[in-house]
Amino acid sequence: MPKLTTHTLRKLKGKQPIVAVTAYDAITARYASEAGVDIILIGDSVGNTMLGFETTVPVTLDMMCHHAAAVTRARPEALVAVDLPFAEAHYGHDRLLASCQRLMQETGVDAIKIEGGAELAPAVARIIAAGIPVWGHIGLKPQQVLALGRYKKFGSTPEETESLIADARALEKAGAFALLLELTDHEAARKITEAVGIPIIGIGAGPHCDGQVLVAPDLLGLTPGYVPSFAHKFADAAAQYRQGFADYAAAVRGKKFPQ
Ligand code: KIV
Ligand code: NA
Repeated sequence: MPKLTTHTLRKLKGKQPIVAVTAYDAITARYASEAGVDIILIGDSVGNTMLGFETTVPVTLDMMCHHAAAVTRARPEALVAVDLPFAEAHYGHDRLLASCQRLMQETGVDAIKIEGGAELAPAVARIIAAGIPVWGHIGLKPQQVLALGRYKKFGSTPEETESLIADARALEKAGAFALLLELTDHEAARKITEAVGIPIIGIGAGPHCDGQVLVAPDLLGLTPGYVPSFAHKFADAAAQYRQGFADYAAAVRGKKFPQ
């Protein structure tokens, strides 16, 4: 399969559902790529999954660089995008450009995902002019969780839906090649998807989006704690991990390993 680009991705809208998944390391990236996913995201969900934080707020640019570089070393054929971490997008153009430049040059990712709506569109347009491909992220923006006070669903009122459509249009106009739409009412998600020409990739946003994204440990059944109800388990990796470790411990203690 040839490497997917922002150009070929855009052409999938209306033709074929787009498959996106997170990965934070080279092994997972390799398997996801071999399975033929379209997009691999080094999400800042690395914080609340692999790194043991409560939220994505403590995740830093250094951490994202570290994990993104591990993913690109697997040379995935998928389009590889990395999350710009907490608050980075809000300092102003120079720092935003420097952070995106560092992520792209140090790690070799293909694109940067940035949480934010219409308020960030001018900033997004300026970094796209510098050659940074941007994947927008609207609806629930988990980096806002402490300001919001909770994780909440978006698009449940006509006003909220209109404001999400305005966000999507502003980011499309700014030049974003796709948008992630998180935890949003399914009908609102349908309207947003119809309102723009760029792919809308949903998570907890229902079946009417142009594609879906899931957090790898959630879909693999590896997440030990709370898993959001929209995250279907396609495997039970936790059971295999537990069994593998227990069999190993029993074999050593029973003097069955090594032979
Ligand atoms: O960090 C992440 O995993 C995300 C999800 C919404 C896919 O941004
Ligand atoms: Na994220």
